[in-house]
Amino acid sequence: MNLIIFGPPGAGKGTQSNNIINNFDLKQISTGDLLRNEIKIQTELGKKIESIINSGELVSDDVVNILVRKIFLDTKNFNRLIFDGYPRTISQVYSLENLLKEFNQKISIVFNLYVDKDIVSKRVNGRVICTKCFTIFNVYFEVPNSKNHKCEKKYLEKRVDDSSKTILNRYETYVIKTKPILDYYNKKGLLIEIDGNQKIDEIYDKIKGILENIRD
Ligand code: AP5
Ligand code: MG
Repeated sequence: MNLIIFGPPGAGKGTQSNNIINNFDLKQISTGDLLRNEIKIQTELGKKIESIINSGELVSDDVVNILVRKIFLDTKNFNRLIFDGYPRTISQVYSLENLLKEFNQKISIVFNLYVDKDIVSKRVNGRVICTKCFTIFNVYFEVPNSKNHKCEKKYLEKRVDDSSKTILNRYETYVIKTKPILDYYNKKGLLIEIDGNQKIDEIYDKIKGILENIRD
């Protein structure tokens, strides 16, 4: 099965995707991670998109669609993808539909993690990520310690686009450009609303219960 995890910045898309891949044979595709990797390894594309990401705007649909097409071309990914942060515009929705048709697949579920704006800000401000094991922590809500994290502290980093200023623009961009596409998936009967204001484990229990009942 293929899934989409949808929600504003800091909704918990990455956190819940990690939980899912620990229990199901699925692969997480975060377009944000793919784009940040281009910046990290200093590709031509990375140099072009760095300022866009740091301002909280969306990278162009063409760039994102090319990255996603590469994922479909890898046969190991057949029918086992979790799309985290993609699609984000109606043009990306149509591009994904075309790719699904071309590669003979479908989306089984779209989880929408809805979260209040003030909670999102605090979560994003407190986020730290381990650059070695890629686990996502939070200095307020999911504090890294010797029990939940085995790597050295020096690997814990904040994301450059997690500044208070950028987060406001990321949230506005989400509301204006991305949230409206929920309607498309709602009309297709694929949308499942999840209260993302709850605790990480409570949210995951709901997601897990739903996924265990899907057979495709
Ligand atoms: P992207 O990386 O996708 O960022 P985002 O959508 O803003 O979402 P985040 O990664 O910030 O949040 P998340 O929902 O994954 O939350 P997380 O689990 O980390 O995109 C970044 C940028 O790339 C975009 O702004 C854009 O420029 C570009 N881009 C990406 N995709 C694109 C596309 N398709 N088209 C065009 N441009 C694109 O959790 C957040 C924090 O909260 C963590 O610290 C976590 O520990 C904590 N937390 C999580 N859940 C809970 C909970 N339930 N309770 C308490 N704390 C929690
Ligand atoms: Mg994320």
